[in-house]
Parts: sequence; C-alpha cells; structure tokens
Amino acid sequence: MIEIENLRKEYARGGERVVACSVRELRIGRGEQVALRGRSGCGKTTLLNMIAGIVRPSSGRLAVAGTDLTPLGEAARDRFRGRHIGMVFQTFNLLQPFDALENVLLGAVFGGRDGRAAKSRAVELLEKVGLGDRLHHRPNELSVGQMQRVALCRALINGPELILADEPLGNQDPETGAEVLRMLLEIAREEDRTVVMVTHDPESARFMQREIDLTTLRDGEVAA
Ligand SMILES: Nc1ncnc2c1ncn2[C@@H]1O[C@H](COP(=O)(O)OP(=O)(O)OP(=O)(O)O)[C@@H](O)[C@H]1O
Ligand SMILES: [Mg+2]
Repeated sequence: MIEIENLRKEYARGGERVVACSVRELRIGRGEQVALRGRSGCGKTTLLNMIAGIVRPSSGRLAVAGTDLTPLGEAARDRFRGRHIGMVFQTFNLLQPFDALENVLLGAVFGGRDGRAAKSRAVELLEKVGLGDRLHHRPNELSVGQMQRVALCRALINGPELILADEPLGNQDPETGAEVLRMLLEIAREEDRTVVMVTHDPESARFMQREIDLTTLRDGEVAA
C-alpha cells in the first residue's frame, strides 16, 4: 500500500537547510495496521503529509496505493487524496461554521459521495464514537476530545483504503481512547483498510499489528 525509498523533505530557512523528514526504506502492506512512533520533531506529521499528497517530497520515491506520487502536481495529488485517503490531522481542521454532522459530511462532499447514504453513514459513525447526542454542536460547542472524534468520523466517511491519523487519541481519556481505537481497527479490519497512526501511547500501540519508530528510520542526519 505504501512504498518508500530514500524519501526526504527539506525546507530552506535563510541560509540553512532543515531536514524535516528522511526515510531510507519503508513498506507497508495492504490491510496492515501500523503505529508510528518517534520523538517530537522527527518528522511523523511531515511523513503523513507526504503520503497523503499534501506535502511534496524534496527527493526520493513514494508510491501509495499503486500510484507514484512524486511526479504528480497539486491538483492530481488532491484528487488522489479524495479517492484513496482518510486523514485525521493533529490539529483536527474542523470548520467552525458547520456542526459535527456537517463537518463529517464535508468529507463525503470532497470525496464526491454526497447524499442520503452518506448522511446515514455519518450519523452511524458519530453514534459509534459516542456523539449521537452532539450531531448539531459546532466545534466550539464540543470538547477537544469530541472534536478529535468528529475528525476521525470525517476521515472514515468515504471508506478510504488508507487511513492516516496523527495522534487521534491524544485528547481522549483512557476508556474513550480505547473504545475509539477499537472502533477504528474494527472498521479497518472489516473493510480491509490500511491504518497508519501516530501515537506516543504504548497502550494503543499494542493494539496495532506493527510498530515503526521513525527516529531509527532516519538516515542519520539530524534536523537543524
Ligand atoms: N515548513 C517548515 N519549514 C521548516 N521546518 C519545518 C517545516 N515543517 C516542519 N519543519 C521541521 O521539521 C521537523 C519535523 O516536523 P514534524 O511536524 O513532521 O514533526 P513530528 O514528528 O510530527 O513532531 P510532533 O511529535 O511534535 O508532532 C521539525 O523539526 C520541524 O521544526
Ligand atoms: Mg506531529
């Protein structure tokens, strides 16, 4: 599902180069559930953003779901993301003027799957994460952990092949976190989805099939 070789993202800041992410080799198979670890600033978010086609690699090879992402322009990468990927951002990116249900449905609109079926799936997902009584709350009327769960539902609405989640349980109490993770992995297994989840929590990592430490994948160069 994901094939990476000598992948790098560098930023130029004034005279210095910042290596935001560097991975020599990484393969993740279809249906695998992977926990991505590594110390703060080692490039986890940058890696997820490259896999999602949001950030363009500086060099190297990156293929996702059989598509080589490196030569694609922004519009093609956006189309690719809408078709194949569900993403939960570290900062959620919920839209303030819309309520929880509408925020989840926006994921369906971007994926080109609007309509009645999308709405009932959105309600079903929100109920599964314990937000059945918060469908019409706007983000500022939700707790941080609740916003995070709305963002997860938005990522799942189109049944994406690949789910990329950046610390999706970071603001959940242990019980809710375990429940949300169980739901995510259950959906992933039922539908044979691949999951890559950034997590610092060893408890949640235990539920995943595989654990990858990005710090050790870096090719020795330390970000400036
Ligand atoms: N646009 C940018 N310009 C310059 N440097 C950047 C840019 N974006 C990220 N970086 C740097 O790249 C490194 C990797 O950032 P990234 O957000 O991927 O880390 P992370 O592993 O997700 O960390 P955390 O666990 O704190 O979320 C950091 O040192 C960061 O300062
Ligand atoms: Mg991060």
